Amino acid sequence: MRAYYFDNVPGDQRLPHDSQRPVSEETLKGLGILHWRIPIDTPGGWEPVIDDVARERGYKNRDTINVSKEGLGDLYEAKLKIFFEEHMHEDEEIRYILSGAGFFDIREHPSDEWIRVNILAGDLLVVPAGVYHRFTLDESNKIQALRLFKEEPKWTPHVRGVETEANPFRVEYVNSLKSVSVL
Ligand code: LAC
Ligand code: NI
Repeated sequence: MRAYYFDNVPGDQRLPHDSQRPVSEETLKGLGILHWRIPIDTPGGWEPVIDDVARERGYKNRDTINVSKEGLGDLYEAKLKIFFEEHMHEDEEIRYILSGAGFFDIREHPSDEWIRVNILAGDLLVVPAGVYHRFTLDESNKIQALRLFKEEPKWTPHVRGVETEANPFRVEYVNSLKSVSVL
């Protein structure tokens, strides 16, 4: 995993768009973004480690998604478009990358800058409810990820806008950042 500010240069979303301004894990943590590195070739396998995290954090269900032309078929273009539209969810978004790579863009609050997080096989990323984000493949055009859920999957993306700003999960997230910065 590597994080940096998105350069905002127009062009292919799948290119790195690296502004050369790195972002630390501390900064990400301050935004509520959690990251673990669990190598796929961990001795004993990654599964027991993921099982432990899942137990600790109460992720009861899981499935695997294959974001690629082969994996999504006719839905490929439409899905990628939806993934790259700035949105938030009313639940955590948790991904353990099994193969391939991609970029999660996280909207920093209150600067409103995009932080680009390059995720690779072995990265476990948690994006809390209420965080604006978007996702794109890189130029390899494929990623396979394990998705974990607390209860039933709540996929609904809430696109950024006046209505979403008033969403209780968004309001709670923004308030949680305020209480952190006072400390
Ligand atoms: C999602 C990711 C791609 O909502 O943001 O599934
Ligand atoms: Ni999402």
